[in-house]
Amino acid sequence: MPSANDLYRLVYLSRNALRGTGAPMRKEIEQILAAARRNNSRLGVTGALMFNAGCFAQVLEGTHDSIQSTFERIQCDPRHSHVTVLAFEPAARRGFGDWSMAYVGEQPIASDEFKHFELESGFDAAKLTGERVFELLREHLLEAEAAAS
Ligand SMILES: Cc1cc2nc3c(=O)[nH]c(=O)nc-3n(C[C@H](O)[C@H](O)[C@H](O)COP(=O)(O)O)c2cc1C
Repeated sequence: MPSANDLYRLVYLSRNALRGTGAPMRKEIEQILAAARRNNSRLGVTGALMFNAGCFAQVLEGTHDSIQSTFERIQCDPRHSHVTVLAFEPAARRGFGDWSMAYVGEQPIASDEFKHFELESGFDAAKLTGERVFELLREHLLEAEAAAS
């Protein structure tokens, strides 16, 4: 049984179900982030969200119960589909401790691994591990921070 204060990390991928492109799409993402940040800061959940063409990748960090209740809401959200959990396991420390939900954005991820997930016929999340997605999001966030400073 997880103790109430143990830190957990959940990593998942999903398919974007939002219609449209450009400004309307960005507005939808803004709305997702606003709700995420409001709820997550109340629950002590931190993490990062990446949106890349056809899919979302998200890392959630917090207590077992806070992640579970958050993820139950996320999973039912019609704005995405094919929600595939890559990892839900104890974590030694937070990777995104400063962010109630960092947005890693829409950079073209030149990763063949992601292509497998995006391909209509080759829905193959098995190619990606939770750790790899965690690292990808951290790398992109740190790069964006370095570029902004
Ligand atoms: C890709 C994606 C990521 C989301 N991430 C979060 C999140 O980290 N935290 C959260 O509370 N809601 C998140 N949501 C939104 C939830 O699905 C849900 O709409 C929201 O929690 C409802 O909050 P409200 O009752 O305060 O409006 C996400 C939705 C999507 C589509």
